[in-house]
Amino acid sequence: MPNSETWNAVDLFFNDRLIGHDAVLDKVQASCAAAGLPSISVAANQGRLLNLLASLVGARRILEIGTLGGYSAIWMARALPVDGRLLSLEIDPKHAEVARANLALAGLADRVEVRLGKAIDLLPAVSGPFDLVFIDADKPSNPDYFTWAMRLVRPGSVIVVDNVVRGGTVADASSTDPTVLGVRRLVDLVAAERRVAATAIQTVGSKGYDGLLIARVIG
Ligand code: SAH
Ligand code: DHB
Ligand code: MG
Repeated sequence: MPNSETWNAVDLFFNDRLIGHDAVLDKVQASCAAAGLPSISVAANQGRLLNLLASLVGARRILEIGTLGGYSAIWMARALPVDGRLLSLEIDPKHAEVARANLALAGLADRVEVRLGKAIDLLPAVSGPFDLVFIDADKPSNPDYFTWAMRLVRPGSVIVVDNVVRGGTVADASSTDPTVLGVRRLVDLVAAERRVAATAIQTVGSKGYDGLLIARVIG
């Protein structure tokens, strides 16, 4: 059974050829580490996937919940046209500060706003529609964030939720872990929502064993 060493080697193989090295993103990761932020940004290949999804959907407006140091925001914002906008919500003032500096470093300060506060308190004042929503904050709130996202999208929009597998614990129906419960309840909501077509994909790699849920708004 291939292990995490193999997953990392495969990530390196593909990323080296398909993504390459990016001086800005390397600096962003270094600045996050130097500021003591947890290393829980999406992986480079996941960042590229978000970037491709933003391109595929022709995103002009993107909403992110959970900024951290701005790594995923940079990947997504790079797919925006010059007059496009990304709004990212972040509860931690230090994370928001690091993210703003990183977005400026990436030349995206004019296209991205990092708004400080608890996402659930900020969302009522957020106006859509957004073409892409990336949910990647506190996992127990995933059901609330998905409910808000559905109010802020249009037909054709895409909603992506990070970390829906968490080492496989999501399949444990008897789990009392608030993170697992948040994801399971999210999946129930998505399943009951007739306005989306959705799938979830398990991933392995430098971020361990996790996965993404991807939903497209169909009407
Ligand atoms: N999307 C980022 C990673 C986000 S990590 C990337 O891939 O680069 C999760 C972030 O959500 C952390 O910065 C954390 O502070 C933030 N967060 C946690 N709870 C939150 C809440 N209730 N409202 C807004 N942000 C929250
Ligand atoms: C955690 C959060 C994330 O968004 C992630 O991608 C990985 C881990 C966490 O809170 O542990
Ligand atoms: Mg995440």
